[in-house]
Amino acid sequence: AARGRCGSGRVGGAAMAVFVTRRIPAEGLRVLSQAGGCRVQQWDSEEPVPRAELLAGVAGKRGLLCLLSDRIDREVLEAAGPSLKVISTMSVGFDHLALDEIKKRGIRVGYTPDVLTDATAELSVALLLATCRRLPEAVEQVKNAGWTTWKPLWMCGYGLSDSTVGIIGLGRIGQAVARRLKPFGVKKFLYAGSHPKPENAAEFEAEFVPLSRLAEESDFVVVTCALTPATQGMCNKDFFARMKKTSVFINTSRGAVVNQEDLYDALAHGQIAAAGLDVTTPEPLPTDHPLLSLKNCVILPHIGSATYATRSTMAVLAANNLLAGLRGEPMPQELQL
Ligand code: NDP
Ligand code: DGY
Repeated sequence: AARGRCGSGRVGGAAMAVFVTRRIPAEGLRVLSQAGGCRVQQWDSEEPVPRAELLAGVAGKRGLLCLLSDRIDREVLEAAGPSLKVISTMSVGFDHLALDEIKKRGIRVGYTPDVLTDATAELSVALLLATCRRLPEAVEQVKNAGWTTWKPLWMCGYGLSDSTVGIIGLGRIGQAVARRLKPFGVKKFLYAGSHPKPENAAEFEAEFVPLSRLAEESDFVVVTCALTPATQGMCNKDFFARMKKTSVFINTSRGAVVNQEDLYDALAHGQIAAAGLDVTTPEPLPTDHPLLSLKNCVILPHIGSATYATRSTMAVLAANNLLAGLRGEPMPQELQL
C-alpha cells in the first residue's frame, strides 16, 4: 500500500521536501523525521514504488532517497524538476543512477560504502561454501530420503584448501572476501581489474592478471566488481570456456556482469563445476528460469548486505547523506561525480 508521510519543521529556514521510495529501517526514517525542516513523503511499502508513483512522488522534491531497484534516469530527473538537489541511494552500487544526467544537473549523490562490506563479504563466503560443498542439494537429499547410508563417492564437492582463488574487482568487498578466505588454506590469490592495486593486494600477496588468466587458473572465481559498461557481460562464453571443469563461479556484484545464457550452457554441459549467484538478471529471477533447474547452481535473492544491523546502518547513512546534501554540508559518504 502507498502512504505519504509528512513531517514538519525547517532546515536552513526553508522546508525541504524529500521523497523516500520505500519502507526503510525505522532508524533511517527517524533521522529524517527528527532532523526538523524535512518534509518526508514516502512510498511506505515493502514492494518497489511503481514507476508512475515514483514520477509523481519526486515532482518538486529537493531530495530523493532511493534504492538499487529504482532506476533513476532522465525521465525521473525531469519529473523531479530543477528543485532536486540531492539523491541518496541506500546502496554502495550506483549502476541504477544515470550519473551523466545527474551530474549535468548539478545534483549531489550520496551512497553507502564500507558499512555493508563485512556483511556482503560474509555472505559471499557463505555462498561459496554452500556452492562448492553442495549444501542446498545435500539438505534436499536429507528431506527426500536420498540419504540412505554413508557413501564414499556421494555428495562430494570441492574445498578451498590449497586452492587458487581469483577475485574480479579487488575493491572493498573483494578484499574483505580474500581476508575471510585466506584462513581456509588458499594457496594463491589472483585478481583482475582495470589496473593493478598493489596496496589492496599486498595483504594477500595477490597477483594482478588478465581476466583470461584468472579464468584459466582459478579454482574459485569470485566476482565483486562494480557494474560498469566495461564489466557488463564480462563473464561470458569465452570466460567460462577458459575455466576448469572443476572450478566454481561466485557472483555477488551485479547480475549483468554475467551473460546468464553462457553461464547456463557452461553449467549444463559440465564446462564448470558449479555457480553461486546472489545477483541475477532480472531480479527477481522468474521461477521458471533455466538456471533454477540446475542442481549445480545456487541462487540467492540479493541478500549480500541483509543483516539487521547492516541494513539499519545503511538506512541511517543514507538519511544522513541526504540531510547533509540538503544543508549544503559535506556528506558522510558522497559519490564524486
Ligand atoms: P569498490 O568500488 O570498492 O570495488 C569495486 C571494484 O570493481 C574495484 O576494485 C574496481 O577495480 C572493480 N572494477 C571496476 N572496473 C572493473 C573492471 N573493468 N574489471 C574488473 N574489476 C573492475 O566497491 P565495493 O567493493 O564496495 O562494492 C562492489 C560492488 O558490489 C558494488 O558496486 C555492488 O554492485 C556490489 N554489491 C553487492 C551486494 C549484494 O548484496 N550482493 C552488496 C554490496 C555491494 P578497479 O579500481 O581496478 O577498476
Ligand atoms: C548494494 O549496496 O549495492 C547492494 O547490492 C545491496 O546492499
